[in-house]
Amino acid sequence: MARYLSKAAPGLWQIQRRRKSMRSTSIRRRTRWEAREQMLEKEGRLPDAVIACVGGGSNAIGSFYHFMEEKEVRLIGCEAAGRGIDTFETAATVNTGKVGIFHGMKSYFCQDEYGQIAPVYSISAGLDYPGIGPEHAWLHDIGRAEYVPVTDDEAVNAFEYLARTEGIIPAIESAHAVAYGIKLAPAMSGEQILVITISGRGDKDCAAIARYRGEDIHE
Ligand SMILES: Cc1ncc(COP(=O)(O)O)c(C=O)c1O
Repeated sequence: MARYLSKAAPGLWQIQRRRKSMRSTSIRRRTRWEAREQMLEKEGRLPDAVIACVGGGSNAIGSFYHFMEEKEVRLIGCEAAGRGIDTFETAATVNTGKVGIFHGMKSYFCQDEYGQIAPVYSISAGLDYPGIGPEHAWLHDIGRAEYVPVTDDEAVNAFEYLARTEGIIPAIESAHAVAYGIKLAPAMSGEQILVITISGRGDKDCAAIARYRGEDIHE
């Protein structure tokens, strides 16, 4: 990945989430503070873009938090598009959802024509939530963050790409962010810096990826 991005982004930074159990946004903010600190220490400046996958949103909000004030840093959330945002088999909340109230919050939710919560789908169990945290809804509404759909196919390709080129097996959730990084990097200049949050490891996903490729493998 770094090789692939080296032309576009010599300082690719990947953030390994320390422990899978660290789920709260506040802990994620603390972890991601290191990304900002290390960026300033090693590169002497902030990145041009920060990319993270979005399920309910705490992973991405932790990544975005310490860069929110600097408008020049693009914040990009990658939603699970599943089989595509033009199908019903998707979990891309901002891209396909409507404002609603569910689970105690007003935000965007995938809904059917009656306003019922839609059954969502993604290859990634961690991203197939029909809503998004309200802070993301707000960041979207004010135009501070972008939310892009990434399909199963793109995520699986990115999963394999990172494993093959860097020996890093990303969680299939994180592979959604990697996939968008692969799309974005060629459009960036060699001086620009892209941060991609690798929110978890993908050992747990290897069998599912093999099945996606037609192998008869089960855990
Ligand atoms: C590895 C990994 N990354 C990202 C996410 C998405 O996190 P969030 O729901 O906070 O957006 C999950 C959710 O389970 C996950 O397991």
